[in-house]
Amino acid sequence: MKKKITFAKHKKTSRNKMILVTGGAGYIGSHTVVELQEQGYDVIIVDDLSNSQINVIDNIRKITTKKTRFEQFNLADNTRTTKFFAENPIDAIIHFAAHKYVGESVKEPLRYYYNNFVSTLNILQAIEKHDIRHFVFSSSCTVYGQADSLPVTEQSPVKPAECPYGNTKQVIEEILQDICLAVAQLQVISLRYFNPIGAHASALIGELPVGVPQNLVPYITQTAIGKRDCLQVFGNDYNTTDGTCLRDYIHVVDLAKAHVVALDRMLNKKMKKNYEVFNIGTGKPSSVLEIIQSFEKASQMPLPYKFVERRKGDIEKIWADTTCANTVLGWKAEKTLDDMIRSAWNWEKALKENNK
Ligand code: NAD
Ligand code: WQD
Repeated sequence: MKKKITFAKHKKTSRNKMILVTGGAGYIGSHTVVELQEQGYDVIIVDDLSNSQINVIDNIRKITTKKTRFEQFNLADNTRTTKFFAENPIDAIIHFAAHKYVGESVKEPLRYYYNNFVSTLNILQAIEKHDIRHFVFSSSCTVYGQADSLPVTEQSPVKPAECPYGNTKQVIEEILQDICLAVAQLQVISLRYFNPIGAHASALIGELPVGVPQNLVPYITQTAIGKRDCLQVFGNDYNTTDGTCLRDYIHVVDLAKAHVVALDRMLNKKMKKNYEVFNIGTGKPSSVLEIIQSFEKASQMPLPYKFVERRKGDIEKIWADTTCANTVLGWKAEKTLDDMIRSAWNWEKALKENNK
């Protein structure tokens, strides 16, 4: 009698899904690709390298054992984007690709609006055409402006944007809500990041600011490494504990992990509504002077700094209420401020070593 052959059914888990990470060669995107791959997801990165470098892809490949696929093109190019989606079956998208500098957006509003809107609209058209049902969007605490009460919850009012960059985040959130109302099967999560800092423990990937850094922590590390003379602390007369501004700094690896949790939530059909928003921060405010102290502790050297006038457009204080992310999303930031600063310093030192 012939033996009956039974084939083991390959159970396709959510972890075999193909995830498109736009802007995956960038700062937050590269860390997220690593976390996704370490959790077993298959990833394809699309990035035009307008604010990143090709060696980031090589370094991601050094950290993870999984194959990292990469395609270089501009998502604002409709023909190229359409072709990409026709050729690649995508299950979910994490959309980081955008121009991100507040000051630059004030000087070049059209470039910002064009890039951030057109690339997003091209992707949304492809989502509709190919019936892709899962989308995570990189939003920002910038949508809250200077909030009237702190910490900010996801229900805190969205204030009129103070710059074109912030406006792109607000309008894209609105576009996504409108599409979710019209398309019941689409699931979208917007993550409003607070202030991401730090780098991967391997010191193979981290933040790569182009030119003079606009943000505090890369300015500090570049000053300490000798690329800048002195940190300017913008204002010491704010109504805060030590007179300097308060922010909710979050380790980029914790932030990256929030994306994996958000994706799991969608793919495992845990969403209560088809559009959800979460604050992603630690829930703890830190002042500029506390960041400097943490840096001096990590580097064991004094940081040259001086107080100067307030920076135009800076908000005095903001930090997140993370209850929703903690309880609904099931995610919590784990790393301390000292962890964040130490990893940022290790990254700056590794950059110097590699450029020798
Ligand atoms: P980043 O500039 O390091 O990464 C963005 C990547 O997108 C870059 O590699 C860039 O080359 C790519 N890109 C830009 N436009 C593109 C296009 N049209 N087509 C293809 N690739 C394109 O920025 P980041 O700090 O990693 O930020 C990622 C996302 O998070 C952005 O949407 C940003 O607005 C948002 N965000 C960042 C912060 C922050 O402080 N870093 C805070 C809140 C929100
Ligand atoms: C932090 C603190 C400065 C530089 C920006 C965007 C926001 C979001 C996160 C994208 C402030 C002070 C800074 C310096 C300083 N990005 N500072 N000297 O302004 O909170 O937020 O990044 O969505 O939209 O606006 O971050 O790192 O620039 O500043 O004293 O040389 O450090 O005044 O108090 P910010 P930041």
